[in-house]
Amino acid sequence: MEKTTDGNGQEREKAQPAAIIEVRNLTKKFGAKLVLDNINLSIEKGKTTVIIGPSGCGKTVLIKHFIVLQRPTQGEVYFKGRRVDDLSERELNNVRTQFGYLFQEGALFDSMTVAENIIFPICQHAKIRDWRQVEEVVKMKLAMVGLDGFQNYFPSRLSGGQRKRAALARAIALNPEVILYDEPTTGLDPIRSDIISELIVKLARELGVTSVVVTHDMKSAYKVANRIIMLHNGRVVADGDADHIRNHPHPVVQQFINGQVSEDDLAVLRMSGSVASSQFLPRDFEL
Ligand SMILES: Nc1ncnc2c1ncn2[C@@H]1O[C@H](COP(=O)(O)OP(=O)(O)OP(=O)(O)O)[C@@H](O)[C@H]1O
Ligand SMILES: [Mg+2]
Repeated sequence: MEKTTDGNGQEREKAQPAAIIEVRNLTKKFGAKLVLDNINLSIEKGKTTVIIGPSGCGKTVLIKHFIVLQRPTQGEVYFKGRRVDDLSERELNNVRTQFGYLFQEGALFDSMTVAENIIFPICQHAKIRDWRQVEEVVKMKLAMVGLDGFQNYFPSRLSGGQRKRAALARAIALNPEVILYDEPTTGLDPIRSDIISELIVKLARELGVTSVVVTHDMKSAYKVANRIIMLHNGRVVADGDADHIRNHPHPVVQQFINGQVSEDDLAVLRMSGSVASSQFLPRDFEL
């Protein structure tokens, strides 16, 4: 632990930044496939941590462990200092209400209006006595993401960017302490991506939430991150602020942030032969 000197000249241990989420020696296997390989990580309260890494490297699996939608093969997960990976589903309900989760697929209920989508998690966790108050909450959440007035729209009438924002309004319905964003800008044009990045920054600032953002979008990563972590082959290969990542000497980091294809990837492409034969690639083949 770091040392600091107090007003009386006494050396004291300096408090470490408060970790709201911690994983210790986290290993995750699916059958024989090793996805996360002994990961140790603390997510700092009130900060925005971005997780980057190639497709299939385990980013979604990692953040699912934070809310125990996945359980470790080995290792532990802590939320506010309490071990959570061994809790029952019922005990986890309470923990999960403190998280807002923007799923990779967006996942609004298509048969419900935007307002009903936001009310849904509120109904699940609270007995509603005053519907006018709920309407006010919905209005406020939608205003935060710039969608007030869209209460009665069905998701099919929204653009991709609006759908992400509506899903975000739902994710913040229960005033979470932590928001997990899984690829929030994927599929959006650069301007709409930038709006989502601005929203992530705004919500972090105005709500004081802890944010964890999984993304491939380096422009968004640099905009929102206090800290960027890169995963590769189930391990953390880089961890630091934007400048640390930009100047990181590891070739895998440079290839990723500059969008370059690695020699390994090229070798796989050469082996896969013609387009016609690529239909027969194994199902777990990932580009
Ligand atoms: N439920 C599951 N059962 C079996 N394998 C799984 C399961 N979930 C994920 N995997 C495997 O774990 C690996 C990591 O998946 P994950 O979804 O975390 O990747 P990712 O880094 O989020 O990728 P992307 O950037 O494409 O979203 C992949 O090889 C995937 O096939
Ligand atoms: Mg993913």
